[in-house]
Amino acid sequence: MSHILLTENLTMTYRIGKVDVHALRGVDLAVEPGEFVSIMGPSGCGKSTLLHILGGLLSPSSGRVVIDGEDLTRMSDASRTDVRRRKIGFVFQRFNLFPTLTAEGNLRLAEHIHGRGRPTIDNQTRRDVLKLLRLENKMAHRPLEMSGGEQQRVAIARAVINRPAIILADEPTGNLDSENSDLVLNMLKELNRELNQTIVMITHNPEAAAVGRRMIEMRDGAIIRDSRQPDLR
Ligand SMILES: Nc1ncnc2c1ncn2[C@@H]1O[C@H](COP(=O)(O)OP(=O)(O)OP(=O)(O)O)[C@@H](O)[C@H]1O
Ligand SMILES: [Mg+2]
Repeated sequence: MSHILLTENLTMTYRIGKVDVHALRGVDLAVEPGEFVSIMGPSGCGKSTLLHILGGLLSPSSGRVVIDGEDLTRMSDASRTDVRRRKIGFVFQRFNLFPTLTAEGNLRLAEHIHGRGRPTIDNQTRRDVLKLLRLENKMAHRPLEMSGGEQQRVAIARAVINRPAIILADEPTGNLDSENSDLVLNMLKELNRELNQTIVMITHNPEAAAVGRRMIEMRDGAIIRDSRQPDLR
């Protein structure tokens, strides 16, 4: 079992009143540890729906999702929440930091939730992550006292600090200018390379997508292309 993420014939139908919206129409996806996968496709093709299902935020209408050996589709809501906390790190377009907490506080809170109150992160891991994301000097800042790029880096630090099996990112650079986008993308790339962190990232930007070494294109609820680029490291 070498896959860290596996889906089988995933479908998702939203029902709005009497109308069915077929957001996913049979998605098969296998991701190996250490992969950096970009997902692209037009608005409404099902990217966020897929990401939310992969992370256990949403249950599919049918099909299977297995994360690091655990079948999300065959467990209680409580167990799924538990797997999500232990194995998934989310990064969204909106940074979703707690505004009243400093960067440090936001990270400690994530660690606390992950460890269910017990400390689980050693100081070295912490230092490595903060150094990689160039955040060492920002720990006392609250979100409003940081730039958008810095806030997103804190959000990424929060996602990666617990060393999740997978980072799921939904347009992580969507709210950033090009300079900060580049910074954030480079840091995701470094996290992937230095820590072998598995990342699945949705993006609208082809340049951002090129940071990943595997590109998946979706249309109308299905994967229509899946290509790997050679690693030119
Ligand atoms: N909660 C919901 N209830 C009903 N329909 C939904 C819901 N969420 C998404 N949809 C519909 O499902 C389809 C896929 O939406 P999704 O958000 O996954 O697309 P997306 O590829 O992420 O688009 P975007 O690039 O605009 O973010 C769309 O037709 C959307 O209108
Ligand atoms: Mg979306």
